[in-house]
Amino acid sequence: MIYLKMPFLMNVNSHKTVWLPTFLNILFCLGALASLTTYWLVTRPRPIQPPCDLQAQSISVQGDQSCRRSALLTDDNLLEFYYEDTKTVYDMFQRGLWIAGNGPCLGFRKPGEPYQWISYTEVAERAQVLGSGLLAKGCKPNPQQFVGIFAQNRPEWVIVELACYTFSMALVPLYDTLGLDAMVHILNLAEISMVICDKEDKAESLLKNKEKGVTPTLSCLVLFNPFSAALLERGRKCGVEILQLSQIMPPKPQDLAVVCFTSGTTGTNQFLSFYVAHLNPCSLLYCALSLSLLQVSMFCHGARVGFYQGDISLLMDDIKTLKPTFFPVVPRLLNRIYDKILGSVTSPLRRALLHYAVRRKQAELSSGVVRNNSMWDRLIFNKIQASLGGNLRFILTASAPISPTVLSFLRATLGCLIFEGYGQTECTAGCTFSMPGDWSAGHVGAPLPCAMVKLTDIPDMNYYAKNGEGEICIRGHSVFRGYLKDEERTGEALDADGWLHTGDVGQWLPNGTLRIVDRKKHIFKLSQGEYIAPEKIENVYTRCVPVLQVFVHGDSLQSYLIGVVVPDPEVFVDWAKERGIVGSYEELCQNPDVKKAVLEDMTAVGKEAGLKSFEQVKDFYLHPEMFSVSNGLLTPTLKSKRVDLRRVFSEQIAQMYKKMF
Ligand SMILES: *[C@@H]1O[C@H](CO)[C@@H](O)[C@H](O)[C@H]1NC(C)=O
Ligand SMILES: *[C@@H]1O[C@H](CO)[C@@H](O)[C@H](O)[C@H]1NC(C)=O
Repeated sequence: MIYLKMPFLMNVNSHKTVWLPTFLNILFCLGALASLTTYWLVTRPRPIQPPCDLQAQSISVQGDQSCRRSALLTDDNLLEFYYEDTKTVYDMFQRGLWIAGNGPCLGFRKPGEPYQWISYTEVAERAQVLGSGLLAKGCKPNPQQFVGIFAQNRPEWVIVELACYTFSMALVPLYDTLGLDAMVHILNLAEISMVICDKEDKAESLLKNKEKGVTPTLSCLVLFNPFSAALLERGRKCGVEILQLSQIMPPKPQDLAVVCFTSGTTGTNQFLSFYVAHLNPCSLLYCALSLSLLQVSMFCHGARVGFYQGDISLLMDDIKTLKPTFFPVVPRLLNRIYDKILGSVTSPLRRALLHYAVRRKQAELSSGVVRNNSMWDRLIFNKIQASLGGNLRFILTASAPISPTVLSFLRATLGCLIFEGYGQTECTAGCTFSMPGDWSAGHVGAPLPCAMVKLTDIPDMNYYAKNGEGEICIRGHSVFRGYLKDEERTGEALDADGWLHTGDVGQWLPNGTLRIVDRKKHIFKLSQGEYIAPEKIENVYTRCVPVLQVFVHGDSLQSYLIGVVVPDPEVFVDWAKERGIVGSYEELCQNPDVKKAVLEDMTAVGKEAGLKSFEQVKDFYLHPEMFSVSNGLLTPTLKSKRVDLRRVFSEQIAQMYKKMF
């Protein structure tokens, strides 16, 4: 202010000297100019310089328009490693250790307290000690050794992960949501003897299976938290040793004899490094999600990672305390934030102002400018930004599609970079990613430098690669090698040329970005020529109260559909009783009156949901046993294995079609 006023005051004092400023005046003038320029430079909205032409974000490979690679590459050779010396997860952590040393690595907090940090050095040390403890308990230092982990995301999780990588062992994460059958299936398939758990209840659920004799290989459980003597005793009885984490850490880490470094197990998520490369060592990742690959990329740059308290309802408080710069989320959380912002503005005037401000910021966004210091931010958005800690620079959303409305609304209000990615577990989580500088919504970005993406024909659904539409197929260093001990399913997902068939339907946009438009469905024709998408029909029928699972079948030789229905054991008996039919679950499955009542219910629900009459099943078989992963009728991601269902129920299917004639 002083610079601005002084020269003018001096000048107007004497009309003679207006055009002949003194030396001091010149100095003041220069000062004013300099500070104005600086102010303008600092506050001027600057577009983010995109790393490539946004109108050509991907490039066709060898003239094939349906097969494309990242425009960031100079040729068709895909990026394998971002740094020559970091080819494995282990290397990436070592790089972080080298950068950050005693700097903070993993953060956690107790309710109402600030975050506490464990340093890189300490994490590395603990991982070594824990790893050698695992070896002492009989684990072998090779990639065929699978160690289970059944715990919430917390610092110990990462330490266990690193411990495994340090000794070339492979980590097998278990989750509550897998369900009992899938969990048993995994433990047996990978012949897991050692599982590391956080709390007693998780250990108990594993012991229950061991007691039933369905997980014979399990022999040792390690818990993070203290546990009761009863648990120890229960384990002893069924032959499972139960230890606390501190018990398997030998006292002297320097006694270590063998250290085998992991070789080439996971060198594939370098694309993330590519994007977080310019984060400095003091960046924070707020880790409420299972994104261990992301964490690794953060470690690679010496960043620190903070964990939530384990309670999703305290998430907002954790964010405020941690003040993360980088926040990976699922779209559901962004939807919640969106609803909350809109819900907090009730008066029509303020609502109109909010929408006007959002439109102004969106106009800036379309010219590439992302900022949190415009007039609108100061007036309206800074308060919202502060509720997320006020330090956010990046948000990454993945794992499900996000609505373009929510995405562009939040880009405007949060004033930080929001990237969207697309991928599957089978391609190490990511294959396309929004290009920095392209803040438009409604697509999932261009292929990452580590992957090639092509579209293939789906004639049944009228998608053709020559029209730039088809099933999304991925090839590259990030694609998985196959399902463990399951050549058949591996063969279904990976073709002979190494392309992963995702089952998603995509469309190339003119600027080289990919849009997800559909999901490849199982489709067949009935004999009268009507197309049937059985999954859609099954989704409708599972809304019926007595129905737990349903498989809809038909083929081009038949003119109508039939099905296999598994009644819901929790409600089925009562549901039948309300209709005057008494019996056990199994008896009811045999009862023709029950079947008639279920069919009526399904037909009514189907009609209400708009199923056409040829889309309704005309008959079905009531099956008293759930489709599950362990009986081979569901995939590990809990989708129906249609080929197997058709084979297992072929007799019932044949009978039903015979009966109708
Ligand atoms: C605005 O963004 C910068 C970094 O880009 C950050 O340091 C600052 O805290 C942000 N301000 C608010 C209010 O979010
Ligand atoms: C890329 O194309 C899509 C669809 O035409 C459009 O919505 C988006 O704004 C484009 N991106 C850029 C940066 O022009």
